[in-house]
Amino acid sequence: MGYINKQGTIKSIIQRLKMAGCVFAEEEAQLLISEAETLDELFKMVDKRVLGLPIEHILGWADFCGIRIDIATGVFVPRRRTEFLVEKAADCIFQGGIVVDLCCGSGAIGVAIAKAVGCINLYATDIDPIAVQCAQRNILKINGQVYEGDLYNPLPVKIRRRVDMIVANAPYVPTESIKFLPQDFRNHESRIALDGGDDGLSIQRRVVSESSVWLAQGGHILVETSKLQAHRTIEIFTQNGFSTRLEYNAELDAYIVIGEKA
Ligand SMILES: C[S@@+](CC[C@H](N)C(=O)[O-])C[C@H]1O[C@@H](n2cnc3c(N)ncnc32)[C@H](O)[C@@H]1O
Repeated sequence: MGYINKQGTIKSIIQRLKMAGCVFAEEEAQLLISEAETLDELFKMVDKRVLGLPIEHILGWADFCGIRIDIATGVFVPRRRTEFLVEKAADCIFQGGIVVDLCCGSGAIGVAIAKAVGCINLYATDIDPIAVQCAQRNILKINGQVYEGDLYNPLPVKIRRRVDMIVANAPYVPTESIKFLPQDFRNHESRIALDGGDDGLSIQRRVVSESSVWLAQGGHILVETSKLQAHRTIEIFTQNGFSTRLEYNAELDAYIVIGEKA
């Protein structure tokens, strides 16, 4: 920040961010200032933000559960509401347990569970090679494994029927609703990270129906959903034989369905 010697420069950056519609302009200006090494770099970063790039893609990291998670351009930015999934997951798992993070994106969920619990055996998968590379950077730090492929397909056979917990924040936006998402995310996160099919639940259905091959007896599966979809997510769980409950966090507006394998 030493390179900025005029208070007016900071004010004009905040002003530009506000005019571009950034709700947290002051906070974002401070983040950009602390990340940039030169004035020229700072102005380039501000230009990108004004054009609508998510702040996390500009910084190259996101804060999730108080942890700095690397975020590559185009990779889904972990949302604050998903911290509730981590909280509930940490309640269901024990140290040394086997955890599978499906549709892992940057790997934020698995990393945060590991941090909360102390030590887990983490296996994560994602279909997007860019997300997998990004997750590798985050997850290798905690000695987890990251695989590229469709849901459970790339997981090693040795963990079949031994998994203590599956967590998934799979895409759950109905295809037709993608156009209503905030522009920052709609334009800069990959479509495959958002699109949950006609009713938004097509990937969740597969996550739940294919889980019994992997879960140990008494194992848990936790899936993030939305207010509108929660009853249908619950239905998917019960149809697949899980004893099921819904957890809700009003502050984060977060809905998690938790199933336990009998
Ligand atoms: C909503 S994002 C969530 C990412 C991460 N779990 C988080 O909360 O930050 C969904 C992720 O699912 C991945 N994905 C979509 N379809 C998939 C599939 N069939 N198998 C594996 N991953 C998939 C996308 O690439 C994307 O990274």
